Amino acid sequence: MIRFLMNDQMVSIEQCAPHTTVLEYLRTKAEQRGTKEGCASGDCGACTVVLAEVTEGRLQYRNINSCITLLGSLHGKQLITVEHLKQQGALHPVQQAMVDLHGSQCGFCTPGFIMSMFFLYKNCSEPTRADVEQALAGNLCRCTGYRPIIDAALSLAGQGSNDAFSEKEAQTISRLQTILAQQPSGSLLDGSRQFLIPTSSDALLQSLTDYPEAKLLAGGTDFSLSITQQLQQPEVIIYTGRVAELMQLEETEHNITIGAAVSYSDAESLLHKHFLPFASLLERLGSLQVRNQGTLGGNVANASPIGDTPPVLLALDAVLHLRSPAGREAIPISDFFTGYRQTKLPPAGFIESIEIPLQSERTLCVYKISKRLDDDISAVCAAFSIALKDGVVTDARLGFGGMAATPARALHAEKALIGQPFTEPGIIAAQQALSQDFSPIDDVRATGTYRLQVAQNLLLRAVLEHDSEQENSNQIMEVVQYA
Ligand SMILES: Cc1cc2nc3c(=O)[nH]c(=O)nc-3n(C[C@H](O)[C@H](O)[C@H](O)COP(=O)(O)OP(=O)(O)OC[C@H]3O[C@@H](n4cnc5c(N)ncnc54)[C@H](O)[C@@H]3O)c2cc1C
Ligand code: FES
Ligand code: FES
Repeated sequence: MIRFLMNDQMVSIEQCAPHTTVLEYLRTKAEQRGTKEGCASGDCGACTVVLAEVTEGRLQYRNINSCITLLGSLHGKQLITVEHLKQQGALHPVQQAMVDLHGSQCGFCTPGFIMSMFFLYKNCSEPTRADVEQALAGNLCRCTGYRPIIDAALSLAGQGSNDAFSEKEAQTISRLQTILAQQPSGSLLDGSRQFLIPTSSDALLQSLTDYPEAKLLAGGTDFSLSITQQLQQPEVIIYTGRVAELMQLEETEHNITIGAAVSYSDAESLLHKHFLPFASLLERLGSLQVRNQGTLGGNVANASPIGDTPPVLLALDAVLHLRSPAGREAIPISDFFTGYRQTKLPPAGFIESIEIPLQSERTLCVYKISKRLDDDISAVCAAFSIALKDGVVTDARLGFGGMAATPARALHAEKALIGQPFTEPGIIAAQQALSQDFSPIDDVRATGTYRLQVAQNLLLRAVLEHDSEQENSNQIMEVVQYA
């Protein structure tokens, strides 16, 4: 059984197909049809709802796409839908702002925008235009146009974040804590099909040993598309979002370790502290809804050649901590990807965490080339970690996505860089060597020729930006590019 608050109402569900999405549940079972379905793939934001969870004694509000969130993952959370915002007959301030500033025309996208604005209202009492754009980047409108919607969100600045939800916060926290105290884990059943919610690494291992064919679910921002787009109905789904060891963030003198089920949003501040360009890249990964759900572990395990974090993790020489019935092992990420969407993950295995050595003496540059700034997949993603002594390259790790069947390092180019000055003439051999490393393909995002040229140009860009950063005596550059 799973239990969650739907708005203020306690809901318990025992029997339900494990692949049921929150959107499907809302519209077909709970008869709450304010939440709309546009794309069913996390792209349009029409299905946006807000989840509240107890974090460090407070309620943390996050906007998510209900179309790619599975119902079972709601256990112990509060699901807030657009129907619930109006309280005691009065519109919520975000709804009133949309009315006052004419932010809705046909209205199809409006509930999604309202929920993203509600997220912003609860998290940021003085939103800037940049905050608003980031909060709304995952919501598409096809008829009103964005100006009045952005104006509505901006008009909320200075209003504070107090509302009927704040008044009930203590009560909501207590109700959610009671659910998890009484029933830390949960499950859904539908005949032989199951949704399992282990709470420890041992329990996760046991579930995978019992059901070696089970599918692992973290944020679901990749996995759920197999359900909504390919109509798959897995027999057993195991949710990692309550596995304590996979939810940890650790920081020592020498490294940081990010649990495989930590969301991008939760990992961001630690990455910002140590690897600013990496954190900046995350701002360009999907939308806020995607980052509130998606995880580094899912991105790595998914092994997509155009995933954004593997090139950076390759450049940073990250280590993956894996666990399976055969035991625990730590492998460098450079050994993990073995072929197109193939990895060294052992049978019935999982990633526990990702360890990144701290390397403040090296320069890190990260670039994402995509057609749109927001919510777009990379044509090329590049991350360079360079060690320099007196202007000469002593070591280099160049990680690339979009250049081969797997995320990969450019080993020939790395070799050609070492011993050379990090200057325009000094990198020419490395630029040429990139064509030995990669023969990228043509696809909808870019031609192979374009990709290779971009990769070579990004190396040059790193040199030019390094020169200008040195003038400002910044060790690490924040360089994220789009085209
Ligand atoms: C609208 C949209 C935009 C997106 N934009 C980007 C983008 O810009 N850049 C980008 O890189 N990606 C993007 N993605 C893809 C996706 O968000 C990321 O790949 C994300 O990191 C996946 O993480 P997740 O937690 O959602 O994984 P899930 O979808 O839950 O899982 C992905 C895969 O990993 C497996 N898995 C999950 N956790 C583990 C574990 N601990 N051990 C072993 N296997 C595991 C699952 O079984 C599944 O096969 C986008 C997706 C959407 C829907
Ligand atoms: S329906 Fe488009 S993001 Fe969910
Ligand atoms: S109001 Fe019609 S799509 Fe936004």
